[in-house]
Amino acid sequence: MTPTTSDAALNGNIAGKVVVITGASSGLGEATARYLAERGATVALGARRAERLQALVHEITTRGGQAFAFATDVTDAAQVQRLVDAAVERFGRIDVMLNNAGLMAHSPLERRKIDDWDRMIDVHIKGVLYGIAAALPYMQKQNGGHFINVSSVAGHKVGVNNAVYAATKTAVRVLSEGLRQEVKPWNIRTTVISPGAVATELPNSVTEPDIAEGIGQFYETYAVPADSFARAVAFAISQPDDVDINEILFRPTRQVL
Ligand SMILES: NC(=O)c1ccc[n+]([C@@H]2O[C@H](COP(=O)([O-])OP(=O)(O)OC[C@H]3O[C@@H](n4cnc5c(N)ncnc54)[C@H](OP(=O)(O)O)[C@@H]3O)[C@@H](O)[C@H]2O)c1
Repeated sequence: MTPTTSDAALNGNIAGKVVVITGASSGLGEATARYLAERGATVALGARRAERLQALVHEITTRGGQAFAFATDVTDAAQVQRLVDAAVERFGRIDVMLNNAGLMAHSPLERRKIDDWDRMIDVHIKGVLYGIAAALPYMQKQNGGHFINVSSVAGHKVGVNNAVYAATKTAVRVLSEGLRQEVKPWNIRTTVISPGAVATELPNSVTEPDIAEGIGQFYETYAVPADSFARAVAFAISQPDDVDINEILFRPTRQVL
C-alpha cells in the first residue's frame, strides 16, 4: 500500500526556506528549530536568553544545518525588527515568521496580578503584532511568505484562572484571521496553531505557587513531547504554495479540556 503521508511528503517545501522563530530558546520554538533545520531549513532564532540560543545554533550548525541567533525581546518592536532584518541581510529573504514566544501566568482575576496581565498582553498581542510588522514588508516585496502564529486550546476555550491568557490567545487567532484576509494580494499564507498540553518549560511561567502546582500535575499527566508541535508547523509549511493551512488545533489524545 502506498503511504498517504510519508516523511518525504512532510519534508517537501521546507528545505531552503528561511524561518524566523521567536521564543526559540526552549520548548516549542527550540524543538521546531531543530526539526526544521534537520529538514534543510535555515533558522533565525530569537528569545531573551542569548546563551541558550547560541547553544542551539552551535548544535544545529555542528550537524551541518544553517542557523543564527539574535537576543530578542518581542515586547520591543525594534528588537523584533532587528532579528528579521538580520535574517534577511544574512540569508536574502524570509519565508516563514513563526510568532511563538509566550508565557502562561495563570491566576484568578481577583488576585489582581497586573504585572502578569501586562506581560501576557505585551508578549502575546504586541509581540505577534511586532513580528507581523517586521516581516510583512519583506514578504510583500517577495510576493510570498508565511506567518505562523501560536495560539492555544485556551484561545478556543476560556477556563477558571486563565481569563487573561485565554483573552490574549484569542487575540492571536483574531489577528491571524484578519491578516489572512488582508495578505491575499501578495500570496502570503497564514497559519494559527493552537496546541493543548505539550511538555515544555511553560508551566514554570506560572507565578502563583498554588496554581503552578495544579498545572504542573496536569502537564505531568497529559503533556506530549514538543515535536508534536514541530510536526504541525512542518505540515503547514510543507504544503504546496497554493495551499494555505489556516488553523491547526491539537491536543494530547488523553486531554479532555
Ligand atoms: N506548551 C504548551 O502546552 C502550550 C500550549 C498552548 C500554547 N503554547 C504556546 O506556545 C508558545 C511557546 O511556549 P512553550 O510551551 O514552548 O514554553 P517555554 O518552553 O516556556 O518557551 C517560551 C519561549 O518564549 C520565550 N519568551 C518569553 N517571553 C519572551 C519575550 N518577552 N521575548 C522573547 N521571547 C520570549 C522564551 O524565551 P526567553 O525566556 O529566553 O526570552 C521561550 O523561548 C507560547 O506562546 C505558549 O503560550 C504552549
